[in-house]
Amino acid sequence: MMQCLVPICFTLVWFWFLTKLLEECRWLVAEVRESIPKELDFLVEAKNSIKCMDNFRKLSPRIADYVYAPRVYWNLSTSKLLTMEYMEAAQVNDLKSIQRLGIQPGDVVKLVSETFAEMMFKHGFVHCDPHAANLLVRPLPPGRRNIFGRRKPQLILLDHGLYKELDYNTRINYAALWKALVYSDADGIKENCVKLGAGDDLYALFAGILTMRPWNKVIDPSVDHLVVKGTDSDRSELQMYASQYFPQITELLRRLPRVILLMLKTNDCLRAVNGSLIQRPSVESFLIIGRVSSEAVLESVLSQKRSLLSWINFWVQKILLEGRLCVMHIAVWLLQLQKALTL
Ligand SMILES: Nc1ncnc2c1ncn2[C@@H]1O[C@H](COP(=O)(O)OP(=O)(O)O)[C@@H](O)[C@H]1O
Ligand SMILES: [Mg+2]
Repeated sequence: MMQCLVPICFTLVWFWFLTKLLEECRWLVAEVRESIPKELDFLVEAKNSIKCMDNFRKLSPRIADYVYAPRVYWNLSTSKLLTMEYMEAAQVNDLKSIQRLGIQPGDVVKLVSETFAEMMFKHGFVHCDPHAANLLVRPLPPGRRNIFGRRKPQLILLDHGLYKELDYNTRINYAALWKALVYSDADGIKENCVKLGAGDDLYALFAGILTMRPWNKVIDPSVDHLVVKGTDSDRSELQMYASQYFPQITELLRRLPRVILLMLKTNDCLRAVNGSLIQRPSVESFLIIGRVSSEAVLESVLSQKRSLLSWINFWVQKILLEGRLCVMHIAVWLLQLQKALTL
């Protein structure tokens, strides 16, 4: 009898545990249920790639030439078969091939950051699977070199199966949150975390998850606060977040809109891609995020009130933004110089 009871009890406990886990992760189950049929329809994938490129042409003309998706051969494609242009290019984490092509890895990191910042903060239509195998790099046609004579990169986006749309409010709140994170604006961080649903009690945890930094680093006013290599105590604080705050993390994931969870996944992929190209996270990437998120917030203010005054205000703010970014670039440069001299 006892021999029989043990496996039955074990199965019941296991079943109870699985049910609890599924309850906690209901959002994940719902997400998978919604995404999988779309990912398996190749015509949806082809249409996503067209929409993505259209967005770059219309909303991000400054970098539209630098981002590319393979041409779709519609007459040879169905929902079960996708035929497209073959791309001769290096995988984004293939450092040697990228250097052989005459492209600087740092330029690729900047382009990747700018491309995804534009998608998140301005298009609200985001490729949510940007791992290294889905991103290729090739040089722009000859003749297009930067001021140091280096070849400029073009980023090729593959695998357009998993896209997420951010509605207007979520997109602007998310942009305002990243703007506040880059500029160490504690009030702005709290306000926008709360607007996104993290709540008064879990906003610091949300900021920590987004930046992978403890709260004291998140609000540190130094220009490189989001990239400085963490000390041992920072690392243990983060580890403590992960273990001690497991219930809060689960609660936070339950509260946030599902689309923001997909943005977290996207950020994670981008962090890994950038990590494979350069050893340390780049301050430049965060300045790009600061620029694009600020532009998105400014554009939203202008779109709500179209008058001569708001137009003038928009341009004044834009010039101030350029000035602020310029000062931050100089500060970064001075910091790097100081570090090089003390080595
Ligand atoms: N247009 C293309 N040109 C060159 N290589 C491609 C192209 N499309 C896909 N690939 C290669 O095939 C791999 C798998 O394609 P992908 O569209 O990402 O499918 P999956 O959904 O299986 O990841 C990519 O990682 C890339 O190496
Ligand atoms: Mg893929």
